[in-house]
Amino acid sequence: MSAPRVLILGPPGAGKGTQSGRIADTYGVEHITTGDALRANKDMDISDMDTEYDTPREYMEAGDLVPDAVVNAIVEEALSQADGFVLDGYPRNLDQAEELEDMTDLDIVLSLDVSREELIDRLTGRRVCSECGTNFHVEFDQPEEEGVCDECGGELIQRDDDNRESVENRLDVFEENTQPVIDHYSDHDGFVSIDGEQAPDDVWADIEDAIDAQE
Ligand code: AP5
Repeated sequence: MSAPRVLILGPPGAGKGTQSGRIADTYGVEHITTGDALRANKDMDISDMDTEYDTPREYMEAGDLVPDAVVNAIVEEALSQADGFVLDGYPRNLDQAEELEDMTDLDIVLSLDVSREELIDRLTGRRVCSECGTNFHVEFDQPEEEGVCDECGGELIQRDDDNRESVENRLDVFEENTQPVIDHYSDHDGFVSIDGEQAPDDVWADIEDAIDAQE
């Protein structure tokens, strides 16, 4: 396989962003992430798409899904410019999965499994660099200096949707909308389920084995 086309699935906080960065660096593919794309465009005017709110911000802060039309357009544009990729945060419901099937084939589908209690701890304690996006955790992955990014010296902030109420809603939205997507892909030839509760390096070792086994 030259440049692998990887889909990474899992609940909020499963480590999709953490592991996608490693996949992109190791295999030289694009990291396509709808969450980051939407955060960078939180206030874009989507009123012409006949949506409940006029910008993605309201959906995201509540932990609800941004309308499919907005997200499908972002992914289609990103995929049209990528050879290999790791797709993170999409598809999140069966309609998006159907759209994706019209856009591209996939070589491997990774599913990260983590329990709900662990996800709540990870997300409510996560801190993100406002400059380079590196993740830290107040307990499990502390920076050398509190509030400062080890990588670039940027300020560490808490995401607007990492408060307890939004996190609980995001996990409910995942169960209702995205778990059926995982069930759908479990028949794919390249589907691999990964224990996401291991230490990050052990999760990575399993992911590397899974991708290399397809080559
Ligand atoms: P998005 O940004 O995609 O957020 P998410 O799916 O909720 O996922 P997260 O980024 O929170 O978690 P992650 O799995 O990447 O975990 P991470 O590596 O950071 O989406 C945000 C919002 O955008 C959605 O709610 C929705 O509104 C909208 N949206 C996005 N896509 C959409 C779509 N397709 N359709 C509609 N709306 C959409 O890790 C989490 C923490 O755990 C970190 O602190 C990390 O350091 C730590 N950690 C990671 N791995 C481990 C480990 N193995 N052990 C211990 N700690 C770990």
